[in-house]
Amino acid sequence: MREAQNKGTGREQLIEMARHNMRCVQEQRIEQTADVLRVPGRRYYDEARWRLEIDRVFRRMPLMLAMSCELKDPGDFKTLEVAGVPVLMLRDQNGEARAYINSCSHRGAVVVREERGNRRRFSCPYHAWTYDQGGNLVAIFQERDFGEIDKSCHGLTSLPVGERAGMIWVTLNPDSTLDIDTFLCGYDEVLEAFSFADWALYDARTVEGPNWKIAYDGYMDLYHLPILHRNTFGADMPCQALYYPWGPHQRVASPDPRLLGLADRPESEWPTEALLQSVWTIFPHVSIASFDGGGGRAVMVSQLFPGDTPTSSRTVQNYVMEKLPESDEVREAADAQFKMLEYVVREEDYATGILQQRALMTRPDAEVMFGRNEGGGQHFHTFLDELIDCPDEALPALFKRFA
Ligand code: FES
Ligand SMILES: [Fe+2]
Repeated sequence: MREAQNKGTGREQLIEMARHNMRCVQEQRIEQTADVLRVPGRRYYDEARWRLEIDRVFRRMPLMLAMSCELKDPGDFKTLEVAGVPVLMLRDQNGEARAYINSCSHRGAVVVREERGNRRRFSCPYHAWTYDQGGNLVAIFQERDFGEIDKSCHGLTSLPVGERAGMIWVTLNPDSTLDIDTFLCGYDEVLEAFSFADWALYDARTVEGPNWKIAYDGYMDLYHLPILHRNTFGADMPCQALYYPWGPHQRVASPDPRLLGLADRPESEWPTEALLQSVWTIFPHVSIASFDGGGGRAVMVSQLFPGDTPTSSRTVQNYVMEKLPESDEVREAADAQFKMLEYVVREEDYATGILQQRALMTRPDAEVMFGRNEGGGQHFHTFLDELIDCPDEALPALFKRFA
């Protein structure tokens, strides 16, 4: 793990990480943690623990719920349900991203059921109460018959929103005071290098999986690549990882011999693309896997959400491209790559995870281990435990301590 302070600009940080990576390649080593970490296996399926995670993690932390390009134009909206909360996200006429609980002030019906669209006003399908982009209640059907209420007090419930680095974060608890910048710990400055604001969503699909932490562990784990994925993409993949944390958020990179090719060139010429290769996780539920091929620059943005039970989760895989394909050839290459990634996650990662959790449940005293080479999983579980116990007022201090 690298030094936390004085991280520098996004580009400076990328250069510093590339230099660190090259040193690890040359010295044929990775950074190891001090010890093996043991986590009680019960934490992956215990009902009470899972409820705490819903309340103290998923409803209390900002969650990355949309790429900015999904709400490109004023009036664009998106709906989704996260940890049991129906959410309406939109971009208003001033270009600001906004989010609301998607529940009508009349009797609570879900106001917008379409997944995406573009609209200035939103009319509830039950009795046609209508809201504007600011969430204000602007019309009551048969208002004279209904009786008098103060419309200004009956808008949609607004949720905290932050837009950084071409991504939009929403906090599901309207009363949360955790500031987005405290939460991000400067991570957005590095993610800015992708220029996601100018990219486009090509395709998205959903994969059902095991407990969200079993699934999430896999995104920080390169140790398994040449083993579990040997028949798909993993046979020649490195199993060693370097972890770079910004608070709870982590970049997961393998020591990359290709970077040595940059060493003779001035740093100013090092291409950003080469510096960004790897997996970027956003706590508590997102992984951005960058790769080229498949028809131009693309990333797979996986958003992992807890399911309705401790032992289920749902992952929305978003295939985001720097440029949308303009030829059949590029489109076919992108489709083939996305299909392969979906297969790998569904049939290899999550199929294994589902069996893993069933097996763990038969051994109530089992512990799972994260080795000295699995610093990413160690960091995640250590932070998560502290977060679960952390009262709201102490959250800024917790993030500062990990930043
Ligand atoms: S519940 Fe929305 S208008 Fe009645
Ligand atoms: Fe995997």
